[in-house]
Amino acid sequence: MRIDNKLQDLKNEFDVSSEKIVEIAKLFKKAMEDGLGGFESPLKMLPSFIGSPSGNECGVFYTVDMGGTNVRSTKFELKNGSFENLGEVKSKLKDAEGKYDYTSGDTTGEELFDFFAELISKLISPNETGYLGHTFSFPSRQAGINEAFLIEWTKEIKVSGVVGNNPNYLLSEALKRRNIMVTPRAIINDTVGTLLVAAYMYKDAHVGTIMGTGHNTCYLEAKHPINGCEMIVNMETGNFNIGLPITKYDLTIDANSATPGAQILEKMISGYYIGDIVTLIIKDFYENAALFSDCSSSMELLSKNKIDSLTVENFILYPDRTIQSINCKKEDALILKEISEAVVRRASRLAAATYIGTLLHIDAGEIRNNHVIAVDGTIYEKMPRVPELLDEAFLEALKEKSKLISVKLVKDGSGLGAAIAAAVAVKLYPK
Ligand code: GLC
Repeated sequence: MRIDNKLQDLKNEFDVSSEKIVEIAKLFKKAMEDGLGGFESPLKMLPSFIGSPSGNECGVFYTVDMGGTNVRSTKFELKNGSFENLGEVKSKLKDAEGKYDYTSGDTTGEELFDFFAELISKLISPNETGYLGHTFSFPSRQAGINEAFLIEWTKEIKVSGVVGNNPNYLLSEALKRRNIMVTPRAIINDTVGTLLVAAYMYKDAHVGTIMGTGHNTCYLEAKHPINGCEMIVNMETGNFNIGLPITKYDLTIDANSATPGAQILEKMISGYYIGDIVTLIIKDFYENAALFSDCSSSMELLSKNKIDSLTVENFILYPDRTIQSINCKKEDALILKEISEAVVRRASRLAAATYIGTLLHIDAGEIRNNHVIAVDGTIYEKMPRVPELLDEAFLEALKEKSKLISVKLVKDGSGLGAAIAAAVAVKLYPK
């Protein structure tokens, strides 16, 4: 009885009602408009200096793409709307065996970008020259398509000497140190890359979003205040913090993070933190005798490995494996599944609220046009039921109008999008 109550209380606490979704959507729209107008807002509304691509971009381009977990370098050929991957190298930012860690505060910017240059060197033959597009998925204030200044690290990265600097300048210096004749020509956010690639595929692609290690969304602003033209805006929505249903677990995660007080929405949605939320809830249940009451070794076994987003996925999909791996009872495995589902459901409904807010802004207050939301990231792709949970949230909040929205998985936009951005830049600003 007591266990049932604890679980029901948790589900209630993690529920986001349809009314709350609408309320958050409206607050989000207002925050977008405040940010765009230069007023105080949790949304940074960063201009990208790029609009929709023409679809006719051509040429061979190198890319480098740093996310929260991996860095990848690819050589793409773009041919009037189609593309070919001519080679790719990828590496983790942090070695599983602890041999290196390019996310830590002990790493310098110079070391990080030397590491990128080394990856790029594996794709290029001696004396070859080329242009590069860089996907740098952290909040950066852009001054042009090839110039961005890192505002702050997110996703718990702490490398020194990069905040305040232009990653493309640091990268070009690293390339020069290795005599690699590749010139960076564009720098974009991963959400922007996702939207650029989606624009090749869907005529109504207006929003690009990542539900992965981090969480963020960009959209196409029809008339940007900077130039009066179409421009993609990287909102840095992970930092949204108004009207959210914050729990004691969220407060603990925030307090223990590298960025207390910042990236509140990201800490409720993204893959980096989802396992931590589930961990805190499990501990709370255990301490209140609502979990593992008859099998004390289970908590010990569970604590041996970090609970990450893949563990959460497994709790949901395979309770039988949970029973085996931590030697618990079926009831306990089912509680872990329900806890995980409640956390994932909340994440999906909060993301949906921000997408609705974005579309309300695009359509000036009422959704009336068709919109494709292009999404990439493991949480959307792999976490059970996230696509359905988003659709459910749209239907509950918007009823009939939800038919105007379709969410499409656009994989690897962050790599290819950088090649498209470089092609656009080279055409716009030939040297
Ligand atoms: C973090 C970054 C943002 C990025 C997102 C997804 O929120 O600040 O720039 O787009 O992660 O990778």
